[in-house]
Amino acid sequence: MTTVSPTPDTTPVTSPLSSPSAPAASGAGQAPPPAMRLRELAFGAACAAAVRAAARLGVADALGDTPASAAELARIVDTEPVPLRRLLRALCCYGIFGETEDGTFVHTEMSRLLREDDPNSLRYICLWCTEPWTWEVWPRLEDAVRTGSSVFPEAFGKGFFDYLHQDAGESAHVFNRAMTTSSMQSARDVAELLDLTGVSSVADIGGGQGHVLASLLEKYPSVHGTLMDLPGVVARADARLRDDGALANRVRIVAGDCREDIPVDADLYIIKNILEWDDESTRRALGNVVAAARPGARVVVIENLVDDSPSMRFTTAMDLLLLLNVGGAKHTRESLLARMSDAGLRIGEVRPVNAYLHAFECLVP
Ligand SMILES: C[S@@+](CC[C@H](N)C(=O)[O-])C[C@H]1O[C@@H](n2cnc3c(N)ncnc32)[C@H](O)[C@@H]1O
Repeated sequence: MTTVSPTPDTTPVTSPLSSPSAPAASGAGQAPPPAMRLRELAFGAACAAAVRAAARLGVADALGDTPASAAELARIVDTEPVPLRRLLRALCCYGIFGETEDGTFVHTEMSRLLREDDPNSLRYICLWCTEPWTWEVWPRLEDAVRTGSSVFPEAFGKGFFDYLHQDAGESAHVFNRAMTTSSMQSARDVAELLDLTGVSSVADIGGGQGHVLASLLEKYPSVHGTLMDLPGVVARADARLRDDGALANRVRIVAGDCREDIPVDADLYIIKNILEWDDESTRRALGNVVAAARPGARVVVIENLVDDSPSMRFTTAMDLLLLLNVGGAKHTRESLLARMSDAGLRIGEVRPVNAYLHAFECLVP
């Protein structure tokens, strides 16, 4: 039997070198045999934990454009140098950081994305995917697969969003930052795609901090907007939408649960990346939109589709995490169309928003 012991490592790092642009380091170019590949996959938690540790320690932020030794980095991020070297060595195997011939470390494309100041930073998304609660729910995947239900109430005594906002303030902050990153990155694409000609009011239901809404209002100066989301989320709405913000005079902010009621009248309702929870919540949210809207109002549902994803490993992982935390799922094109027509919506065109999102145009009959 192989023993895996975390003994202090004083040996030099001997893994093959990886240049900043190399796609992967250790073993790159040579696929490991199936038995080793399976072992590596079963140890996936080690990789996730290493990414999380680097993100929390701020290692990528500490490393600039010139190579730095583990000892230099350790001084900046306040760790022991030898374990930091071990952490970097593990990450180099995946192409996150590279090691030079003299044993110093350099950035790769992926490690730069861990920097908080990178314009396409994934730091908060990496933290979100590895939050403490995720490590509580993954071992219960077997139960979720048996029952088809969320394991969250059993593990934490309440639903996921209640737990997040009532008991896990730091995790809620990470969630908001992660959502901010991804919605800012997609808001421009949505604003570019949607034609608001003839629309005078738009509502974003479950619109987070309102980045999509702000992008649309900036593009269409005569349109008014409503942002609806849970109270803890709209309290931190985008500065452009809040009281002294540049768009405030055209914005109404509604704090509420869209599964209970949607007290919003608009020409266009946007529902982006929220129909990923349990079916009953989807049914109620769509039913409330149809009840609130006037006949002829437009509804645009925007989602990542599991059957049309350029990155099936990421999308299927998210799909399983949604099963665990909210009893939800990433939709296929068919499953989303079925829920929208069950709600009574008249479905029109389905168009790609960008490489990973699709927009479903519908009308309220
Ligand atoms: C994945 S985020 C998407 C945010 C935004 N639509 C976007 O695409 O950037 C899901 C959003 O749904 C909100 N949400 C969850 N449950 C809700 C509820 N019952 N009523 C209203 N919003 C809710 C969350 O607070 C969060 O902002």
